[in-house]
Amino acid sequence: MSDEDSLPWSRHIRSTLAALSVYDVPPADPACARMHANENPEPWPAEVMAALADALQRIELGRYPDTSGRSLRAHLARRHGCAPEQVVLGNGSDEIIALLLLALSSPGPAPGIVVTPIPTFVMYGHTARMLGMELREVMLTEDLELPGAPLDDALRGASVCFLARPNNPTGSLWSKERISALVADHPDVVFVIDEAYGAYAPAGSSLWSGASPSNQVHMATLSKVGLAALRVGYCIAHPILALAMNKVRHPYNVSQTSLVLAQTVLARFGSEQAALVSRVVANRARLGEILAGIPGATVLPSAGNLVVVRLSGDDEAPRLAAHLREHDVLVKDVSQQPRLARCLRVSVGTHAELDRLAHALRGWGG
Ligand SMILES: Cc1ncc(COP(=O)(O)O)c(C=O)c1O
Repeated sequence: MSDEDSLPWSRHIRSTLAALSVYDVPPADPACARMHANENPEPWPAEVMAALADALQRIELGRYPDTSGRSLRAHLARRHGCAPEQVVLGNGSDEIIALLLLALSSPGPAPGIVVTPIPTFVMYGHTARMLGMELREVMLTEDLELPGAPLDDALRGASVCFLARPNNPTGSLWSKERISALVADHPDVVFVIDEAYGAYAPAGSSLWSGASPSNQVHMATLSKVGLAALRVGYCIAHPILALAMNKVRHPYNVSQTSLVLAQTVLARFGSEQAALVSRVVANRARLGEILAGIPGATVLPSAGNLVVVRLSGDDEAPRLAAHLREHDVLVKDVSQQPRLARCLRVSVGTHAELDRLAHALRGWGG
């Protein structure tokens, strides 16, 4: 008996969900070196943790937070040189992706078209599929750059294009000039420039400026800069688009604990946060050296807090990922993803985690 017979109501479940799987990551043993989730693993200094504990104590648990996080939005607006009404907060930038696509899709048989290069962050495609939008995935070139004509062709008639810069899982930093030209050439497409990993790219790489064209959205998150536990992401969009997003956003979507902790860090501990980022940038170089020591391996350039290594053996990536897991080191096997054959993605770990990785790799011959 099918579910449809035994549970007649189940035919009401949104039809697009049948082809989707749940984005789920099994809980990782904290004793492992967790180099699989692109976090910033560096510990915050004790005085920052004490200030955060103090801020938490003052939260009135019985009260709702601000409906749209006005105070944090005002802080971010000053930082980015835009109006507060252009800033929309999300429960992580995952929620921002959903708000953007809800606001930019239409009911009916043709909800809209989303363009993404692949490989890239999976939630763009997942959310588009969930909403029944047409998804046009355009393969990156062999050297993981944005393609030429195929991307321009895909953008014709599209509603939204997501470009992660630096990209996950490749770490590539696509040309500013190329992206600006795409944004100018396709004024009827909303380009979401996802700078989740922007803190790890060379200074001055950001594509955001107060004078960005109206079809360019800047998306960012605190998750990758030491605050993943808070789930705070945001975007800066033209006021008309921000207003549309706010109509689909649930009120109070970011908790008071997250708002207060995020604002305390951003307002008072910017230099401590920059130090966490600098440590990861320094450790990225060491991670590259460790991975380059694997016989036959090639380390790809990265502007993010991750490094991709291409191994020489055909089935070496899953075997090495399993070997590292046995040594309590977690990395991500991306070898099944387009253009990433034989590749592992390794997030930058702490100094001690990198020691463990180096130790686990000793004697690995492929
Ligand atoms: C490129 C990119 N954008 C956005 C996100 C989502 O970040 P969050 O929902 O934690 O803000 C991720 C997470 O890995 C990512 O890789």
